[in-house]
Amino acid sequence: MRTQVVIIGSGPSGLLLGQLLTHAGIDNVILDRASKDHILGRVRAGVLEEGTVRLMDEARSGARMYAEGLPHDGVSLAFDGRDHRIDLFGLTDGKRVLIYGQTELTRDLMGCRETTGASTVYEAVNVTPHDFDGDAPYVTYEKGGSTHRIECDFIAGCDGSHGVSRRAVPEKAIRTFEKVYPFGWLGILADVPPVSPELVYANHPRGFALCSMRSMSRSRYYIQCSRDEKLEEWDDQRFWDELRRRLPAHHAERVVTGPSFEKSIAPLRSFVAEPMRFHRLFLVGDAAHIVPPTGAKGLNLAASDVHYLYEGLLEHYEDRSNAGLDAYSARALSRVWKAVRFSWWMTTMMHRFPDTSDFDQKIQEAELDYLTHSRAAATALAENYVGLPF
Ligand code: FAD
Ligand code: DHB
Repeated sequence: MRTQVVIIGSGPSGLLLGQLLTHAGIDNVILDRASKDHILGRVRAGVLEEGTVRLMDEARSGARMYAEGLPHDGVSLAFDGRDHRIDLFGLTDGKRVLIYGQTELTRDLMGCRETTGASTVYEAVNVTPHDFDGDAPYVTYEKGGSTHRIECDFIAGCDGSHGVSRRAVPEKAIRTFEKVYPFGWLGILADVPPVSPELVYANHPRGFALCSMRSMSRSRYYIQCSRDEKLEEWDDQRFWDELRRRLPAHHAERVVTGPSFEKSIAPLRSFVAEPMRFHRLFLVGDAAHIVPPTGAKGLNLAASDVHYLYEGLLEHYEDRSNAGLDAYSARALSRVWKAVRFSWWMTTMMHRFPDTSDFDQKIQEAELDYLTHSRAAATALAENYVGLPF
């Protein structure tokens, strides 16, 4: 079998790239090792930047997102028992974010892909990219007891941080940068109304807490926990009690509790692999970089990578120019590092670190005080939070 682009991974980056290519008449096949239900069962990001929203539109997959997504014009930073609102809309000349879950975005992209008839192979075993350093790459996988081979022009490695694409690159050709944070996030989903109509990021002596949502009747809450925290030790009651302790009183009083239907722990780390292109193999999204979730950049960075790669592929097929593909890695990494910086900064400012000195604590307090009293500092947060342009 032959196609123009093999996409490894059916997460947001693979699906978004697939839709854009299909609508531009560029043939592509998506291979994922997981089942469709497994992929749709993953609860992850919830905040979309305007650039991501625009790409969903360009991929002709945005109808439900526009109908059901919640536009947010501000976020709150809570510390010292008070809320300090960052006016995203006012500080960025009218930009906002859209609250729409990654699960829903994935469902929409999968549904639209099915209507185009483009091919997706779920539960593909041993997916392996071959010969991407030459001009005749191909990908093999096993399914139904036989081995399949797809010849192609390009391979897009959209297979997340534990995928096969980055690992297929010889170690000496790749440089990695990593920072591991000494905590994780314990998150729950519950069908209860959110404490506040806007997101609340809380810095409290007991640790960070985040009040987010999926709709006005479904809340997503996170609390900072230790890296080796045991999920089974956190029944719902313990979670709600701890969340309330970390919020200012006026929010804590308004927390509506109920049974959680999802509960998980995510470790926090920053990671970047450079470069993001290896001749005919391109790394996209989490396959190339991970950010801690503070600031909600992971999914949005995957979308900007897709934008740069899509532009490069379009130029290659329509204009017979490789300029966009040649520039892919540098263009993507320039935006990636700025989001890595922002996520690291938000994480450092909002969490309690186990080994914090009195000096570090004072600096954190000064940072929050500065941010909430300086329009220039608040603008810097706002323009990063709504997403740097791409
Ligand atoms: P993924 O979504 O990881 O998709 C990769 C796909 O590749 C998967 O479907 C996988 O099954 C497939 N795959 C993997 N290996 C192979 C293989 N060998 N062969 C074939 N297919 C393979 N971001 C935020 O902005 N906010 C958040 O709150 C947030 N929370 C997160 C919580 C967790 C636990 C994790 C892991 C991530 C979170 N993120 C969050 C990050 C965000 O979800 C990711 O940045 C986003 O999913 C990246 O999309 P992607 O398509 O690049 O990768
Ligand atoms: C969500 C996750 C984030 O990391 C964040 O910064 C904001 C919201 C969420 O899952 O809703």
